Amino acid sequence: MAVDLLLGLQWGDEGKGKIVDVLTHTYDIIARFQGGPNAGHTLEFDKNKHVLHTIPSGIFHPKSVNLIGNGVVIDPIIFIKEIENLRPYNIDFNEKLMISKKAHLIIPTHRILDAASEASKGMAKIGSTLKGIGPAYMDKTGRNGIRVGDILDPSWKEKYKRLKKKHLDLIKSYKVSLEFNLEELENNFFRCIEILRNLNLINSEKYLFEAQKSGLKILAEGAQGSLLDIDFGTYPFVTSSTTTAAGACTGLGIAPNKIKDVFGIFKAYTTRVGGGPFPTELFDKIGSTMANIGNEYGSTTGRTRRCGWLDLVALKYCINLNGVTQLMMMKSDVLSGFDKVKICTAYQIDNRKVNYFPYNIDSNKIKAIYKEFPGWEEDLSSMTNAKEFPENLNNYINYLEKELETPIKIVSVGPDRKQTIFR
Ligand code: GDP
Ligand code: IMO
Ligand code: MG
Repeated sequence: MAVDLLLGLQWGDEGKGKIVDVLTHTYDIIARFQGGPNAGHTLEFDKNKHVLHTIPSGIFHPKSVNLIGNGVVIDPIIFIKEIENLRPYNIDFNEKLMISKKAHLIIPTHRILDAASEASKGMAKIGSTLKGIGPAYMDKTGRNGIRVGDILDPSWKEKYKRLKKKHLDLIKSYKVSLEFNLEELENNFFRCIEILRNLNLINSEKYLFEAQKSGLKILAEGAQGSLLDIDFGTYPFVTSSTTTAAGACTGLGIAPNKIKDVFGIFKAYTTRVGGGPFPTELFDKIGSTMANIGNEYGSTTGRTRRCGWLDLVALKYCINLNGVTQLMMMKSDVLSGFDKVKICTAYQIDNRKVNYFPYNIDSNKIKAIYKEFPGWEEDLSSMTNAKEFPENLNNYINYLEKELETPIKIVSVGPDRKQTIFR
């Protein structure tokens, strides 16, 4: 049985959590393959709103198993808090949540290192979520990391002490002043490790091989977005993992030939939170209106998201990188009420027209070339069928499908599970 993949095609926060939740009833297993608590995946249903950071977005469905793959980095403090926050739902975590023993741990000094690294960069900072993601992946690839499975062996504390010492030396070398109470952080960390130890820590690739063999349906859930990919994103303003389709293979142990559909999620416009280039960014009233109507405030950090028009140059690049088979357009409702809506079809760089995503993305040197569309006034949020869509929205969708050579199968018209229109 094949595995499907769902991932973001922009700079994150496309609405991945919502769509995983919508699709979960057709899958047996939902498996997160990369990232960590830098992610904030929002689900809304029955007038409730939940933001998940580490736990996959299928957790609210009665049947599906949710797996945290080896490619994920786990901060036990944030993770256990997430579990505790879900207590009112009586979820049986023993039945429904599996954690790869090969996932790496974020330890308290990873977070302090992240803060020290960002503080040392001044104006050039990445705008990290400060959750310790970069330092944790650095230790993973540097072969110094601590894996979840390590905590089953009492000698892991020696490893922990060595890593902590290395971190404290490094933090000193940054020569920045930071205030932190390591003792308090550690007390909480070790309390959470004890809880984590008693959850389902498994050999997840084996679990997934067997699941595939017995015909179970698996959906791999991505975090962040393709433009934050460590290799293909707007480096160095990226995260530290492979957010593109290949990350599902390395982050779960799924063979490439087992992947069937790749669902690419994008907003009907573009947002970015944190630093880095953004060619279609709007600094005017239109941008701030998008942020207000779209409620564009980070799910993890609360920071205001930068907003701009849809960027087809970037979107085509990401569709190619991931082999997207179906598109899902989110937050379409937010575009109602604008006189005109625009789509960037090419970049102008030094008087040259460029229609591929270039090596150097310098927003100051790139002028976005736009195609304008007449807007629509209708409120989409209570629509339930694509037949109700205003003509101008249909024109917008048809243009995108033609240019992107990929069908748009879902149009989302609001944050709630029910505000999802299949085409
Ligand atoms: P993720 O990180 O990709 O899961 O996305 P986030 O949850 O960080 O951000 C998406 C935000 O948009 C959340 O607040 C969602 O509740 C909200 N959202 C998702 N789809 C829609 C939609 O179609 N319309 C509107 N207005 N909000 C949406
Ligand atoms: P979800 O899964 C949006 C951004 C940060 C920063 C950069 C590096 O909710 O879409 P990091 O903490 O990884 O060192 O930050 O990446 N970033 C995200 N932006 N959505 C996310 O996740 C993000 N995760 C990281 O703002 O610019
Ligand atoms: Mg998010």
